[in-house]
Amino acid sequence: METFDHLRSPHGFVLFTLLATISKGLACEAPSSPQCFRRNEEESVYICEWGFDTNESDVTFDLYFHDIIGSVSKFMNLKKNRTEIIEEKLTVGYKIDFWVDARAGNSSCTSPRRSGVLVDSVKYDAPQNISVFWSGNNLSLSWLAAEEHPALAEVWFRQYEHPTESWEKRLINTTDEASMYKVIVVNLLKNSAYQIQIRHQSMKAKNSLWSSWSPVIIVPAELEHKPEVSSKIKFVSHTRQVTLTWKSAPRAATLSGVKYRLNDTQSSRGCPCKKKSRETSTNSYTFYVSYSAVNITVIARNAAGESPQAIIQVPAASAADLKICDKSLLNKTIKKRTCLEFYELQDADLKPESVMTLTARKQKKEKQKINKTMKDFTRYLYFEHRCDDGKPQKVKMCLFYKKEGVPNKEPKDFAVVAETQNSASLSWKGISHEHLRGFLTHYNLCSVKISSQDGKKECFNVSASATKHHLKGLTPGTKYNISLAGVTQAGEGPLATQTITTSPEKPINVWLSFGLLLAFFLLSTCCTVVLKRIKSKIFPPVPIPVIQDFTPRPPESETTESVFWCPQQEMWERKEEVHELTLHQIVSEQKSVSEETSSFRREWVDRTDERSEAERTDSTRSDDERSSLDSAGQMLRRTQMTEPERVENELAMLIYKNGLVFDEKSESPNQSDC
Ligand SMILES: *[C@@H]1O[C@H](CO)[C@@H](O)[C@H](O)[C@H]1NC(C)=O
Ligand SMILES: *[C@@H]1O[C@H](CO)[C@@H](O)[C@H](O)[C@H]1NC(C)=O
Ligand SMILES: *[C@@H]1O[C@H](CO)[C@@H](O)[C@H](O)[C@H]1NC(C)=O
Ligand SMILES: *[C@@H]1O[C@H](CO)[C@@H](O)[C@H](O)[C@H]1NC(C)=O
Ligand SMILES: *[C@@H]1O[C@H](CO)[C@@H](O)[C@H](O)[C@H]1NC(C)=O
Ligand SMILES: *[C@@H]1O[C@H](CO)[C@@H](O)[C@H](O)[C@H]1NC(C)=O
Ligand SMILES: *[C@@H]1O[C@H](CO)[C@@H](O)[C@H](O)[C@H]1NC(C)=O
Repeated sequence: METFDHLRSPHGFVLFTLLATISKGLACEAPSSPQCFRRNEEESVYICEWGFDTNESDVTFDLYFHDIIGSVSKFMNLKKNRTEIIEEKLTVGYKIDFWVDARAGNSSCTSPRRSGVLVDSVKYDAPQNISVFWSGNNLSLSWLAAEEHPALAEVWFRQYEHPTESWEKRLINTTDEASMYKVIVVNLLKNSAYQIQIRHQSMKAKNSLWSSWSPVIIVPAELEHKPEVSSKIKFVSHTRQVTLTWKSAPRAATLSGVKYRLNDTQSSRGCPCKKKSRETSTNSYTFYVSYSAVNITVIARNAAGESPQAIIQVPAASAADLKICDKSLLNKTIKKRTCLEFYELQDADLKPESVMTLTARKQKKEKQKINKTMKDFTRYLYFEHRCDDGKPQKVKMCLFYKKEGVPNKEPKDFAVVAETQNSASLSWKGISHEHLRGFLTHYNLCSVKISSQDGKKECFNVSASATKHHLKGLTPGTKYNISLAGVTQAGEGPLATQTITTSPEKPINVWLSFGLLLAFFLLSTCCTVVLKRIKSKIFPPVPIPVIQDFTPRPPESETTESVFWCPQQEMWERKEEVHELTLHQIVSEQKSVSEETSSFRREWVDRTDERSEAERTDSTRSDDERSSLDSAGQMLRRTQMTEPERVENELAMLIYKNGLVFDEKSESPNQSDC
């Protein structure tokens, strides 16, 4: 009930005339002074209402209007503290006074008087049908407009979690569109729930009164996130049972209740079962879908809006071993509650890009349309569904070509590797459905010798599912063209060609003979060495007399007495033994050589000692002697004096035995390098 406190005039137009309450009885409390107004500017009906508190059951009111010229209008015996009076019965254009008398039993009391111009007073009904909507942190409120003009609204709000806090208040001018008043309360928190109440008043009327307050409404928090849905799909006798479960939204968003709405692309097309609205306030839902691909959406909805939608994509039921459809399929009459689907397939995953649906109703027309739009050489996934007890059931599922063509691409990545001299391994990738343009029956694999004259082509069939092959029976050392082509009912597609050359015959024999040759060589070398060793043992080598050459020696290198042994000549080293030598001296020699010669029977003599000895002897020699030695050809002269012999003007003769070599030339200091 409107109280006096709410009476307010923004224009300060209304004059209040409060008269003293006249109490005629004892048990009577005066009513408040009445307010009279219209609901909006267009109304011709005036409403008058006043406040009255009483315990009395039988109370009647009399309403009085008193205009300036003195005429009085009376409305007697009113049962309620509110009445509607039509314009004609009132003076509305001028200032008038009005009051109310309340009568209970024998007592009666009169309200204070109020005066004003009735036509100026407008009081809207309390805001109705308030809807709320979050947009970011702004809350948009809208309700039924009272009239065509914008209004002034007062919005009180507080967070739902803090009900003891005082109301926050905002005065906002409404916008009005489509007979709705709309205000936006900015800078709230979208993930909090709010309590809100609104009242509004006319901005046009001269005396506009605030409406009553709307009831307090609860604005839930925004449903920010899409539901977290998990799905379970079960195959049940030619249909698929889908059970979806999801988590509850946060409490702040579900305060005034939340509903989940489910949609699927199959039933929204009405194939094969009619569309059903699926809404639940629980956290799971079970329903049935057909074998064809379906998208299911789940949206949570509360008083302040909808969540983003969760999409569950359910692919078509496994299509691994699909057969080719009967060609006469399109000519069949479609039964009631049956629907056909043709999915155009672009790739191997049976992903439907576009779908054509055919139902029993208007099937003649639809068939013509499908015949027109269906493409040749294109793969379609065909489904025949029937709606059985509200569940879609699979009747048939196969692959369909309106017309088959030959492939327009060769098999991809065709590779040929020669394995042995008479076989090769082949590998390739399938032709994509887009290029296949028909149902692949098999591959045609051919090999042709390039080098030979006859060039006969050998072909055979390879299974359509194969992606590799072992090609046998090739001729060694031959160049081949190997080709592979996909074959459909319409024929053979382009060839993928590779050229290989098999390895030449018996490549192992070459290596074998080479190896044998090498072995023979090694063996013979070995034998020679061994033989040589053995030979030197069994048949000791016959010493070859060394004939000294007579080239004159430079004086500084002159050495008359040296014995040299070459350490590198191992063969000799072992057997070192000095045997008797006879050095025959030139007779004409003046000096006795006995000085320089001595018994030569000795073992090894240290070389340096020997040399120094030689030098010593040299120094003792006269020039004459030296020249005579030169002329004698610088020979080593070793004389065994035990048996003197006469040799005239001749060089000493060396007798070798058992491999000993005496070289009189090795006088130089680096003779050891020999
Ligand atoms: C009211 O007044 C009448 C006479 O004037 C009397 O008869 C009646 O009893 C009174 N009723 C009450 C409730 O006082
Ligand atoms: C306003 O809400 C009431 C129930 O509260 C409903 O009956 C009425 O149809 C709604 N009006 C509009 C225009 O939405
Ligand atoms: C919220 O309101 C403010 C002030 O009008 C505005 O600047 C802002 O863009 C609004 N936000 C959204 C998300 O609408
Ligand atoms: C509402 O609009 C009027 C003018 O149309 C303006 O005077 C008043 O200040 C506005 N009130 C608010 C709260 O914006
Ligand atoms: C499901 O949704 C995806 C992505 O939005 C779309 O590509 C696909 O065609 C849809 N499938 C069906 C059966 O509608
Ligand atoms: C072998 O293939 C090459 C091209 O790949 C082609 O030009 C040639 O004619 C083919 N030879 C035979 C004998 O088919
Ligand atoms: C390959 O298969 C096709 C059809 O299956 C058949 O007509 C053809 O004779 C076969 N070719 C060979 C070489 O086997």
